[in-house]
Order: sequence, then C-alpha cells, then structure tokens
Amino acid sequence: MKKKILVTCAFPYSNGDIHLGHILEHIYADIWVRYQKLIGNKIYFICADDSHGTAVLLKSININIDPNLMINNILLDHKNDFLKFNIFHDYYYKTHSKYNYIFLRNIIDKCFVKNIIYNKNILQYYDNKKNIFLPDRYIIGTCPKCLSKKQYGDNCVICGSIYNTLDLINPISLVSKNKPVLKYSNHLFLNLNIFKQKIINWINSINLQENVFNQLLSWLKNDLIDWNISRDSPYFGFKIPSKFIKDKYFYVWFDALLGYISTFYKFCKINNNFLFDKFWFNDSNYELYHFIGKDILYFHGILWPAILDILNFRKPTNIIVHGHVLINNYKMSKSYENFISVKKWLKYYDSDSLRYYFASLLSNNINDINLCLIEFVNKINSDIVNKFINICSRISRFLEIYFNNILSNKLWNENFYNLFVQKFDIICYYYLNFNYYKVIIEINILLDLVNKCITDNKPWLWTNNFKKLRNLHIFCTTIINIFKLISIYLMPIIPNIIKKIEFFLNTKLNWKNFDKPLLNHKILKYENIYNRIKLYNF
Ligand code: 2FM
Ligand code: ZN
Repeated sequence: MKKKILVTCAFPYSNGDIHLGHILEHIYADIWVRYQKLIGNKIYFICADDSHGTAVLLKSININIDPNLMINNILLDHKNDFLKFNIFHDYYYKTHSKYNYIFLRNIIDKCFVKNIIYNKNILQYYDNKKNIFLPDRYIIGTCPKCLSKKQYGDNCVICGSIYNTLDLINPISLVSKNKPVLKYSNHLFLNLNIFKQKIINWINSINLQENVFNQLLSWLKNDLIDWNISRDSPYFGFKIPSKFIKDKYFYVWFDALLGYISTFYKFCKINNNFLFDKFWFNDSNYELYHFIGKDILYFHGILWPAILDILNFRKPTNIIVHGHVLINNYKMSKSYENFISVKKWLKYYDSDSLRYYFASLLSNNINDINLCLIEFVNKINSDIVNKFINICSRISRFLEIYFNNILSNKLWNENFYNLFVQKFDIICYYYLNFNYYKVIIEINILLDLVNKCITDNKPWLWTNNFKKLRNLHIFCTTIINIFKLISIYLMPIIPNIIKKIEFFLNTKLNWKNFDKPLLNHKILKYENIYNRIKLYNF
C-alpha cells in the first residue's frame, strides 16, 4: 500500500535572507521527499514564513517599511531562494494569514473551555529608551553560573546552563545598548504539566533519534514550566481577543506551530482536495514528519504535542532533528562574518555541489555539520568530476567515434553489471533512514569499482580489429549502463546534474525500472556535464 506523508521544515523568520542553515535542513528533507516520491508514495512537502515576533517588528522599523509589506516581499524572496536549490514545496505560505488566525481562535477558546490557561502578573525586562519589553534574545549579560560575559537572557553557550532572565548579571538591552528596567505585566500561561503523561506516551510510541528521545525524556522527568503564550505591545503578530486579556499579542511560537496546520489547510483548500481531516484528525494513519534543528526541539517535542492534544489532533509520526551548520568549524553567524546566504553562495558555486556535500555529511543524528570549504572543493572535484562524470568522458569518445553513439544489443559481463544492481536495496534503506552519508559512501565504492574496471581493461587498446571492436562496443555499453545506474542512485541528491545526464543518455531515468539496461539505444554526443570547481574566499 502506498503511503500518504506530510513533511514540513521549520518556518524561516520573515526578517532576513535564506541562508545555508535553512538550506541544510531543506536539503535534508528534500532528499527524503524525492526518495519517497521515487518509490511511489504520495508525499506533500509544505513550509511557510514565520511572520511574527519582535525580531520581525524591529527589522521593519530599522528599514522603515510597514511590516505587512515587508513580510510579503520577504516571502517572495524566500520562495525564490528555495527554488534556486531545487527545493520544491507543494505549498509555501506565511503564518500571518487568515487561516492561521482561525486556528488560533479555535485553540484559545478550547484552552479556556478546558480551563488550562490562566493570567499571571510577571516581572520582565523593559527598554525604557525604546519603550519595548525585551525578549530573552535581546538581552545580554553575565552568566549567573559560570560568569561568562555576553550571554543571552535565557542560556549560556559557554557552560550550557538555562536560567531565568532575571538572574542574568549586568543585563544590557541589545536594542538600545542601555540597562533595562524591570516592569510588571499581565500574561497568559498555558498549563503544560497536564500533557506530560500523554507526551511521554507519544515519545515512547515513535522512533525518535536516541539523543532526541533522551533529551525530551530529561525535560519530561521534571515539572514543565507553564508556557507564557502572550506578548506585550509593541509587537507584530495577532492580537489576543480582549475578552481574554487586554492589549496583548499571541507569542510568535504559538502561532508558528499552528502554521503547520493552517498552511496545509490552505493548500488543501486551493487544491480542492479533502485531505485535511485525513491528515490531522486523531485517528489518522497518514504520516507526519517534521524536520527541525536541535535548537528548537523543546518547541516541537513538548509544546507542539500539547497544542495538538488541545485540538484533539494526531501527533507527529516522527521529528527528524539535525545539528547546526558550521562554516570552517565556526557556528554560522552574521557577527562572525561567516554568514552565507543563498544569494552569496550562488555567486561562487552551484546548488548541486552543496546538495551533494551536505548529503555526504547528513545522517540520522544531531551532530553539527561542518562545511569546510577546502574539503568541499576537494570532494566535489574528486567524487563528481574525477570519478563520476569522468566515466562518460572516458567512454563516450569510443561510442561516438566507432559506434555512432548507438549502444550495443547486449552487455559485456552481466555479473559485473549485477554487482551494481545489487546495491539498490541497501541504498534505498539508507535513504529511508536519513543516512545519506552512507549512500555517498556506497556510491563512491561503486565509482571506484567502475573506474578500476576501465583502467584494468584498457579499452583504448581494443580499436584495432573487428573482434575487439565488438568487445569494445559491449564494454562501453555496459559502462554507460553502470553510469546510468549510479545516476539513478543519485537522483534524490543532484537534480540539475541528473537533468544533464538524462539529456546525454537521451532518456528519462527511471527508479522503478532502474536495472533495465539501455540497449540498441542512441545516446547524444557527450557535452561537458560538470566542471571542476575552485576554492574561493567568501
Ligand atoms: O527557529 C525558527 O527559525 C522558527 N522560525 C521556526 C518555527 S518552526 C514552526 F513552528 F513554525
Ligand atoms: Zn555559563
């Protein structure tokens, strides 16, 4: 039975360019989506811009543009950037939408009916100069545990501790660079502990990555802190209806998570399909996967199942978590000047090279992914150019000169060809389990084998008599068919190169009939498919 699957990536904020961190996650998901499509499952891949929050508001103030206009411009830009990496979402929307607001109203009403939400007056840091309450990310100070300087309001990257912002020593507002003051404000809190046992049951029932499971369990072993789902004005977001609380907005994360539901709802609506209930209702046997970075696990592993529970919706089939992108071993950050946006990357390199390189590092775990530029250039030149594409340039010459680019009617050595066919199952298994680096390892073993076969057999010595020419013909036909097989194995990873290969082979690559060789088939004259790349200083 074919499966029906919904896949999401974390929603990028509407306040900046798509960068390699987003791209890593989308490549992680996109390879899996492409694989699922190839094996015939029905899969929907959705994403959206995360439109709200203080950061979006401050950005719009900085560039002096209305936030509504700004998020619409950024939405177009984001969609475009993903397309440049051949990441095709079935639908890409935004959280600042009518549908998202409808779900928000729905859930807040349910919270009150169920009596799981309450008001509380709390002390918070306030920037007197800019007249704004400060989110934790906009306050820095000295860590109360290890005394490291320049740590954010909620956690210390040096000692890893998580603390209350009020405990931070010498806090400074990042908005005005002034010392913030403490001010009382009334907020809405969601009682999370009542969901604890259900969340524990859920994480026990699915196949989470080991570290992810352990991390969630360690949070669930303690009391869960009630979640403040409201924010003070000024804010860019949805206003909370005043019968619940005066002059407050919904916290960006509350409506961002709901965006998974509303984006799919809108997609179903514009496509006139009836899939929404089938995917989201409690007894759904359709599958739901979220791809996220490890920094937002708490939101997806604790808060999201609680939200779904309130709505009486199904829980995710799995949450696939990846590590951070490092550039030459440093965390990518605008302040380190090692920040690489899609636009910047594409000034120097193509998209398939990064798709291939990230695939060679991606596995089913949460280790950080280091983009080492020297290693990247070497890997692409060695694997893609010297080993893979070089097969065509070595062999196509003979086919063109002696055989008018027509492949022979049989293979040279079926057993040898079958060595390559036999790898299909293991490659499928690695794709299915998000272990793309193992796919790349297998493919490199195959590439070494086929290149060695060409070198050992020296086909260039077979051109001087009729009998040898026949051998040369079936030999080249076999090598081209092995090249085709390996190309099929790479289909989810390097879509642009695959298009060029399909053009050269004069056929569409077919996953289902992957092992059927091309015989008595005319290919095209070989034109360069991929060039060596150079090391640039970004
Ligand atoms: O961390 C982030 O970049 C968030 N904008 C992710 C939101 S994911 C989902 F909840 F929308
Ligand atoms: Zn510390």
